[in-house]
Amino acid sequence: MKQTLIYKFLLFFFITSISLSCNQENNIVNKKFIINRTELTHSYANIDEVFTSHLHLDLDVDFESNIIYGVARHKMVNKNADTAIFDIKNLEIQKITIGKKGDEVETNYVIGKEDEVLGQPLFVKIDENDTDINIYYKTTTKSEALDWLSPNLTSGKIHPFMYSQGEAILTRSWIPIQDLPSNRITYSANVKVPEGLMALMSADNPVIKSDNGFYSFEMNKKIPSYLIALAVGDFEYTKIGEKCGVYSESQLANQCAQEFGDLPKMITAAEKLFGKYNWDRYDLMVLPYSFPFGGMENPKLTFISPTLITGDRSLVSVIAHELAHSWSGNLVTNATWEDFWLNEGFTVYFENRIMEELYGKEVADMLAYVEFQELQRELILIDGSDYPEDSQLKLNLKGRDPDKGMTSIAYVKGAFFLKTLEAEVGRPKFDKFLKSYFRKFKFESVSTETFSKFLQHKLLKPKRIKFNTKEWLYRGGLPDNCLKINPTRFIDIQKMATDYSLGKNVFKRKAKRSDFITQEWIVFIRALSGEIDVQKLRKLDVLFDFKGCGNSEIMTEWFLLAIKSNYNDLRPELKQMLLKIGRRKYLELIYSELSKSKNNLNWAKQIFKDAKNNYHFVSVKTIEGILYGK
Ligand code: BES
Ligand code: ZN
Repeated sequence: MKQTLIYKFLLFFFITSISLSCNQENNIVNKKFIINRTELTHSYANIDEVFTSHLHLDLDVDFESNIIYGVARHKMVNKNADTAIFDIKNLEIQKITIGKKGDEVETNYVIGKEDEVLGQPLFVKIDENDTDINIYYKTTTKSEALDWLSPNLTSGKIHPFMYSQGEAILTRSWIPIQDLPSNRITYSANVKVPEGLMALMSADNPVIKSDNGFYSFEMNKKIPSYLIALAVGDFEYTKIGEKCGVYSESQLANQCAQEFGDLPKMITAAEKLFGKYNWDRYDLMVLPYSFPFGGMENPKLTFISPTLITGDRSLVSVIAHELAHSWSGNLVTNATWEDFWLNEGFTVYFENRIMEELYGKEVADMLAYVEFQELQRELILIDGSDYPEDSQLKLNLKGRDPDKGMTSIAYVKGAFFLKTLEAEVGRPKFDKFLKSYFRKFKFESVSTETFSKFLQHKLLKPKRIKFNTKEWLYRGGLPDNCLKINPTRFIDIQKMATDYSLGKNVFKRKAKRSDFITQEWIVFIRALSGEIDVQKLRKLDVLFDFKGCGNSEIMTEWFLLAIKSNYNDLRPELKQMLLKIGRRKYLELIYSELSKSKNNLNWAKQIFKDAKNNYHFVSVKTIEGILYGK
């Protein structure tokens, strides 16, 4: 009892003390150390003293209360620590024990002050040789990673659905964990769900439903915490290739098999380019429309948005992207969120290489050009923002939400850095270098500096190549030597847009949307000037039905132009899209455009009031920022 009190007392001061402590100097040093470490890692965990090597989860997923009741059993490597620090956010801790399952003794713990972004540190008292820490907890309705959907928001409309989204620092809102990308762990889980539902994780997965609602999972490769994922619902498995397939609600099964039919070819192409696929199976899981991303690369089980199902395979580059993460991100992970470009820049580069392999250079270049236009837009925004240095590849996110670094700088500037390097060195040498990078750092987390040194020593120096690596990594904007691409088909379509704006008749009478690919339409719509008159836009809708075409990429561009041009006939269709689709990329663009005028902003706020119930927390948060400056 006495010990408990002392522990609590000390820890209380550890976290909150400023000048009152009798051991003042020591505490200030410790506090400073903790703050420095936390700012760098966006985590409170003291992994330099004690870290998880394996996590076992016992979970009960309750759809009555939309709560997960859990025990997180951490197997630790303990270097004589007397306290283990975990991250938690909006979790209720019930008790904490030390020891193997069934032979457990309760221990003391203290929960630190809440930070709006990081959540709270959970200090657990341990002895220097303790290695088994069991945290009994439940999630709450504020657990931000979790999206609970009532049946009416699913395709089948009979069963509920839930899924988690961990990246970047949301895993701590459904599992008490050392939530940082530099500590890799293996994990296993026993999960109980209501009978008749299936549970899936970023691990070895079942292909049929269990009779009693019990499922067991194993991920025996070391992964960072943000890649632990769970989905529960009424799924069915459709095989696509020997090592790959797709989980979806049964209504979507046939469409999925057709849409993602090129998956086996993509895997073959990726292995040829970057080396062996290390994760055994590669399956997809189609989530409900609320899913905030096009895709999320949870290992062995990529989560994807149903917006990718267009009927014509036109958005499968997202699948190439998530597959590419099996190397860049999942095999070699960014050490901190300030190195995020190592995950996404590499992945966009790889995605483009896979697309080139499958569909040819012309298509790959068109995809890259569309992304490059987005980068140019983003560069202007960042330049005028409070953080102009966010256009560096290596970010400075101290004291900020890591989400703020997740812009097209990491994605597209990152990819163009690698494209420019490739052009400079030549593809064969560059490919050899990339393969060696993945071999050397597999199952490790890597910083920008480690990459930069490796590049210098393994490629640039031996081949006597001078390259402005530092400028690319540590300066804002785009270096002059950035590779330029200019697909000829885009020159044609941009001319068509200009001519059309000027009133020329550029389309044949029987013109169809399928005369051009999605990227051509995107570039066409972007090239129509903002002052184009509404009559001309109406005519395009008659010809090509952009407003209801079901391709969310084209629809988003079209709605953006409609808002800019006061083409307000489309408000019912726009409203319908905002109510249905929770993908953040689209919502962010559309709500931002609407925010530019007072009337539109009010209209957007009205829609958002209802629509936000159909969005995941990460989208709600971003849109609240746009509409209410939160
Ligand atoms: N890992 C990301 C999604 C993500 C990023 C989640 C940051 C949380 C924080 C995923 O691989 C991704 O980049 N998705 C893109 C697709 C893409 C083709 C660029 C998306 O959802 O738009
Ligand atoms: Zn990605």
